[in-house]
Amino acid sequence: MDAAKIHELGLACECGGAVICATCHVVVSPEWFDKLEPPIEAELDMLDALEGREATSRLGCQLVMTEELDGLEVKVP
Ligand code: FES
Repeated sequence: MDAAKIHELGLACECGGAVICATCHVVVSPEWFDKLEPPIEAELDMLDALEGREATSRLGCQLVMTEELDGLEVKVP
């Protein structure tokens, strides 16, 4: 979420990471998807209710950036 703001990806992130809005929805490139930490239950619930969810959808606010994720590619739907 912070990286999205810094790079002006246009994510609203209205709840500030409280996992109640899904306005931070991103679609992760398939080659990166399995490198992410698995989603918590609250994120899964939000994704289940999300219109336009794709196989590699995640909530941007729940992605914890690490050195291993340097170069992560996401699409803003
Ligand atoms: S910012 Fe609201 S769910 Fe991610």
